Amino acid sequence: MTDPTETPAWKALEKQCTAIAPIRELVDHDRSEYRTVLAGIEVDFSRQRIDLTGWQMLKELVDQCDVAQLRDRMLSGAHINTTEERAVLHTALRLPRDSKLFVDGIDVVREVHDVLDRMAILAENVRNGTWRGFSGERITSVVNIGIGGSDLGPVMAYQALLAYSDQSIAMHFVSNVDPTDLVETLKVCDPQTTLFIIASKTFTTTETISNAQQARDWVLADYPQQDHGGVVAQHFIALSTNAQFVADFGIDPVNMFGFWDWVGGRYSMDSAIGLSTMIAIGPKNFYDMLNGFHAVDLNFANEPWESNVAMQMGALAVWNRDFLKIETTAVLPYSQYLSRFPAYLQQLTMESNGKSVRVDGESVEYETGAIYWGEPGTNGQHSFYQLLHQGTSVVACDIIVIARAQRELGVQQDVLVANALAQASVLSLGISANQLADSGVPTQLIPHKVMPGNRPVSVILCSELTPYTLGVLVALYEHSTFVQGAIWGINSFDQWGVELGKKVATGISQSFADSTQVQKFDASTQYSINRYLDLRQ
Ligand code: F6P
Repeated sequence: MTDPTETPAWKALEKQCTAIAPIRELVDHDRSEYRTVLAGIEVDFSRQRIDLTGWQMLKELVDQCDVAQLRDRMLSGAHINTTEERAVLHTALRLPRDSKLFVDGIDVVREVHDVLDRMAILAENVRNGTWRGFSGERITSVVNIGIGGSDLGPVMAYQALLAYSDQSIAMHFVSNVDPTDLVETLKVCDPQTTLFIIASKTFTTTETISNAQQARDWVLADYPQQDHGGVVAQHFIALSTNAQFVADFGIDPVNMFGFWDWVGGRYSMDSAIGLSTMIAIGPKNFYDMLNGFHAVDLNFANEPWESNVAMQMGALAVWNRDFLKIETTAVLPYSQYLSRFPAYLQQLTMESNGKSVRVDGESVEYETGAIYWGEPGTNGQHSFYQLLHQGTSVVACDIIVIARAQRELGVQQDVLVANALAQASVLSLGISANQLADSGVPTQLIPHKVMPGNRPVSVILCSELTPYTLGVLVALYEHSTFVQGAIWGINSFDQWGVELGKKVATGISQSFADSTQVQKFDASTQYSINRYLDLRQ
């Protein structure tokens, strides 16, 4: 397999990055070749610290690392998740009904649409009141219990599309095993009118299954034993790939919506895991969201470098990480609706590309996945932007702007967008000592006011935040994540790094339950266990 550092393009980029001009010099003309319009959004890379020579070399890097070949293998259902021997087919979740895709002998499109059709019926029934609780009451609260990919996508989408959601159904999300998460949620719910969606690909995740058990006890406490089967049937739905464990939990298979091992948790918000989204926004809007995803899939699958936005975005992320040595990327949505988008992207990018061995098991000798983080602007401006502007670490920034507000409040939308554009400009251009002196800043203050700029900024401008544009945005980041992993030669679709912590936590839990058990913990862990046992009494 290709070691990217051995490619001629990588070596050329290593030289190129030592000679790259600051952004303020690069943007002295209209850099239209770094802008692309795609499915209702405009992606502007003109404030990235790259010139046309570097841009061409990045294209060559993508070619020399065979990214397009891996993409085609992914799209055709090849088992590119080699450590789990699985296909990676989240793109199949948004294929139109009349498409054809057979993988491992399965008619994938038919199966996907069968589930979508069943979801649509359920969603409509909950929305129009046909689906009732056991006592005959209409459902007025839905609680999605899940964690990681079974939570972050649904929460993010719910927040993002609040303007499209049916406000007569209160939507809640419980993820944390911290009992207060569920307890506080249940305080505002009524067992007779609450529908629980237990979302777990594996149906073995401790956090989710413990919360689900507590929720089941809470609902059943209102009913005599002989009604319990019927109550669970009316108040619990499962989203999972594990039919057996769902049945063992007591949920009727009729109320289970399946998906497949080729849908990774962090790539699953448009699978059955999106049921809460569909209930909130309705099936038609959900299909619009899928169409947005699909529009980007088509761009990613078919367009050449010059108009392939995800390819460019992924390659630029590698440029920033490996050549400009930028360790983190701040995602800064200038939209309150997108407040959970950075958290969603953290799992997508960091669980995918936080790896240090290649697919062939060799250790990488270059940097891989950047740290992603962020908060909505303008809140971040009054918090951490100081470091973005004048700190010693350079942070790459993705600024997301929505042109048309869903809710107009006088001039506030203009103020919001003005701030976004101002930050894009200041982060990339900064202000020099000379400029400050020319504007009359006292000499002693000049060093404190100099802003180095040179922070690479992408501006993603969406005309409006609709279900369709949300699909476009998410798919763009999904494929950018793929491109980064493909260049680095890592497997972006497994997550072995999360396993050991789960195993050790199980051992520690056992020692809490039975402190006579001899467990081999290190001295610090044993000390903490003992202190906890003292304090919890
Ligand atoms: O532990 C990490 C992880 O496996 C994620 O990849 C996944 O999204 C999350 O846990 C939840 O898993 P599940 O949907 O199986 O409960």
